[in-house]
Amino acid sequence: MTRAFLATRRDRTVDTEVVELDDADLGEGDVDIDIDYSSVNFKDALAVDPNGNVARLEQLVPGVDLAGTVTKSTSEHFAPGDRVLAHGYGVGVSHHGGFAAAARLPAEWLVPLPHSLSTREAMILGTAGFTAALSVLALEEHGLTPGEGPVLVTGATGGVGSVAVSLLAGRGYEVVASTGKESSHRWLHELGAARIIGRGELAASTKPLEEQRWHGAVDCVGGPTLAAVIRQLHYGAAVAASGLTGGPGLELTVFPFILRSVALLGIDSVQLGMARRRQVWDAIAGGLRPEDLESLVAGEVDLNGLPEVLATIARGGVQGRHLVVCN
Ligand SMILES: NC(=O)c1ccc[n+]([C@@H]2O[C@H](COP(=O)([O-])OP(=O)(O)OC[C@H]3O[C@@H](n4cnc5c(N)ncnc54)[C@H](OP(=O)(O)O)[C@@H]3O)[C@@H](O)[C@H]2O)c1
Repeated sequence: MTRAFLATRRDRTVDTEVVELDDADLGEGDVDIDIDYSSVNFKDALAVDPNGNVARLEQLVPGVDLAGTVTKSTSEHFAPGDRVLAHGYGVGVSHHGGFAAAARLPAEWLVPLPHSLSTREAMILGTAGFTAALSVLALEEHGLTPGEGPVLVTGATGGVGSVAVSLLAGRGYEVVASTGKESSHRWLHELGAARIIGRGELAASTKPLEEQRWHGAVDCVGGPTLAAVIRQLHYGAAVAASGLTGGPGLELTVFPFILRSVALLGIDSVQLGMARRRQVWDAIAGGLRPEDLESLVAGEVDLNGLPEVLATIARGGVQGRHLVVCN
């Protein structure tokens, strides 16, 4: 039996409870994993929201990421004792995910944990941190280098945002953090933000082009915020866009693209191919990881503590990353 946080969709509600799941009900897969840690991501809140449109099973163990140790394997690529992590693909969406003591997953979804990362460190970063790393790499591949001038991070107190602030500051960038939380200004400075602007300031104007302010940007908010960022990018600069906490729409003219040659870089961590996924985790385990990972931890919960954290993340109220202790 496996202890698990189960979300059951009824007519117009989703009920959650901690249950003992029969191991036969863990789902399809050739590798069994004892999970040390998972983490709480915005998508997990959508998975337990009746209108969230994320869960693909009527009864689902959410948790879009996990890290732990292989206990059983019929795959030639993994053996008992191997430390692994997984995120994206069907994890916590169409297949039981990380909010449990164990998981059974297809070998193709597993990343061998790099030697210099613990399972705890991997999940402090988790899906959000991996997405922040992908965003920073995308900006640098587009040509961004430290010393050019301000780089903006929106949704800065959230998972993607806070890791992006920390990563960029550690690489020598002048980071401007945009947040709706006045109480988090000091923490954002501690993470490395040089300056902080209020969430409302960005979307105050709607002119087709605005003053050029940002040499690059990491945006996980979308909606009017992303539109404002694009209107304010310097000539030739790019924004890496990954999220929609501020809405899925994007109202723009083509002027920023055809008059300033700016770029909108789409970031997806879910279907990203395994070769690139492993390469990015290796980069994280090497030079790319934030200097002080523990400073990103907002709290630790066990399976019973999940409803409260999921409710907080759903209303945009988190600061940093919540670890889920699974065993
Ligand atoms: N593309 C991918 O592969 C991928 C991967 C991971 C996450 N995501 C997406 O990225 C987004 C962020 O994920 P996360 O895990 O970092 O979430 P999170 O921890 O909840 O952080 C989101 C942050 O967005 C800001 N925010 C919330 N509501 C807002 C609103 N109405 N308007 C403007 N800003 C708002 C808040 O930051 P402040 O209070 O500091 O402003 C909040 O902390 C989500 O949409 C998620 O689905 C995408």
